[in-house]
Amino acid sequence: MGLFDSIFGKKKKILDPFDMSILKTDVHSHLIPGIDDGAQTLDDSIQLIRELNAMGYSKFITTPHIMSDFYKNTPETILGGLEKVRERIEEEGLKVEIEAAAEYYMDFEFEAKIKEEKLLTFGDNYLLFEVSYFNKPEGFERIVFDLQTAGYKPMLAHVERYPFWYGDWEKYERFKELGVYFQLNIMSLGGHYGGQTKKVAEELIDKGMIDLIGSDLHNMNHIESMKKAICEEYLHKIASSENLLNYKL
Ligand SMILES: [Fe+2]
Repeated sequence: MGLFDSIFGKKKKILDPFDMSILKTDVHSHLIPGIDDGAQTLDDSIQLIRELNAMGYSKFITTPHIMSDFYKNTPETILGGLEKVRERIEEEGLKVEIEAAAEYYMDFEFEAKIKEEKLLTFGDNYLLFEVSYFNKPEGFERIVFDLQTAGYKPMLAHVERYPFWYGDWEKYERFKELGVYFQLNIMSLGGHYGGQTKKVAEELIDKGMIDLIGSDLHNMNHIESMKKAICEEYLHKIASSENLLNYKL
């Protein structure tokens, strides 16, 4: 590091956009219209898919929210919506594949569902779940255990976005020991959620803790943030990692 860098911090590296066709698959997005806070119409869905396709992605595993308070989705609402998106993709002649799973919010209804229902998963039975951004989740380890006992592989959505765990590296390591997979939002690397989230995202990458990267795309604003993020040095670093599950999905 030169004198300038040591005084003013590490120089930021902006690279050419990473070719996402190398990665092929995006996991974690909100592309099914009108069932959560993502795409609201089929036109929105197609516009977002076209934009992601232009970055190189050719396969999408989209993950609508399932929350007991706000988005009471079921496998029926999600898979019914998926069919409509697939028909429209066909009509438009787009050369992309789309599947659906869900982003489950860890609440009391979710805990009950683990034992009562077949939950939506992707790949080798990975189950994407999120927790509150504001409060530490209660019963986290018990719920992870219940998921694993039921045969699921729990994957924590946007692991870098939970401020109450910032700096608590023992906690992240504990989750890895328990067998929790970590998904990171690509937009975090471009600073979309703020500097602190970006820093934690980079540290998680440096420590080799990330299993999957996803867009978490909801709307066209996110497309602009994605375009910025895919030029970041850390995106190039993580997207080139052979251990990333994206390549196997
Ligand atoms: Fe999401």
